[in-house]
Amino acid sequence: MSNVIAIDVGYSHVKAVSHQGRIVIPSVVAPARELSLSDFAQKTGYAVSIQKPGGPVQKYFVGELAIKEGQGATFTTDREKHRHPNHDILVLTVAKLLGAEPQATLVAGLPIAYYKAQKEELKKHLEQLEADVATGSGEPKRISFGKVIIYPQGAGALLKAPLLTNSGTVLLIDVGQKTTDYVTAEIVNDMVRPIASLCGSLETAVGNVYDAFAAEFQALTGSPISPVRVIEIVRGNGQVVFNGKEYDFRPIIQNIKESVARSVFDQVQAALGERFSFLSRVYLAGGGAVALPLTEFFRGAISLPEPQWANAQGFLSIV
Ligand SMILES: Nc1ncnc2c1ncn2[C@@H]1O[C@H](COP(=O)(O)OP(=O)(O)OP(=O)(O)O)[C@@H](O)[C@H]1O
Ligand SMILES: [Mg+2]
Repeated sequence: MSNVIAIDVGYSHVKAVSHQGRIVIPSVVAPARELSLSDFAQKTGYAVSIQKPGGPVQKYFVGELAIKEGQGATFTTDREKHRHPNHDILVLTVAKLLGAEPQATLVAGLPIAYYKAQKEELKKHLEQLEADVATGSGEPKRISFGKVIIYPQGAGALLKAPLLTNSGTVLLIDVGQKTTDYVTAEIVNDMVRPIASLCGSLETAVGNVYDAFAAEFQALTGSPISPVRVIEIVRGNGQVVFNGKEYDFRPIIQNIKESVARSVFDQVQAALGERFSFLSRVYLAGGGAVALPLTEFFRGAISLPEPQWANAQGFLSIV
């Protein structure tokens, strides 16, 4: 049972942590259909039932199961993912899987770009969220949040940065699937103080690699490719047999990754202006810290340990 949970709802994965455990699931939700027992045995992921007070029981496939079903919907076309109905489904699912107690304390994030304008709305929304949630063949359990804290993405990850200086200005870059958040902060006596005018979000991130690869694949083979297959190839070894022909996509993938990393670098550098040259340390977080060759451009930057988890872990550390 957990009475405090921190959830980072990303465009690609939901990362959720409590003091007792943690869970990551792809941010994909599909309408449920009946599965035979043998279907079930072969599938990973979650069949989830959600019943809001006075409402009907609604059933979904969440995570891997939704991807395998092929009908899954992600947020990728929505600029404000927390306003999408999937946001609640994902939050309720991971809260249930982590064993959240009723009226648990929840820490959740918002991209820096939306933080000021939408934090109150999201906080109220999550405080009102309440449902009986069942996963798999388990019993339903009431999930609700007594206290909700909304924290800016990136700033959460910065709390997990090993601060190697006790003064100066540091920059944290959280490269995700669709958004890259950058947080510039002053360190004063070991306290981290973000400088609002030097924080923001870009819409260049790992997803751009997948989009560019899909276009290259189509140009080279003449065939379109599904998003699931793109991720498999880009995250795999880059070599594939397609319609009887062998392709080695490694050089193409490397080029694409470099150009996306360069674009992130150029935009962050432009946003910080002269201040960029005076940073005492640059930290990298998010899956992009692993997926992209960012240190070729951000010379001397340090990747946070378990970069994809850094925000959620930072969120948990504030309560
Ligand atoms: N070890 C890894 N190797 C390669 N790619 C990875 C690795 N870990 C994560 N990624 C990829 O990095 C990307 C970003 O992951 P991350 O979880 O940071 O994004 P997100 O938080 O869901 O997105 P956003 O912050 O834009 O909402 C994803 O495409 C993910 O598949
Ligand atoms: Mg993220």
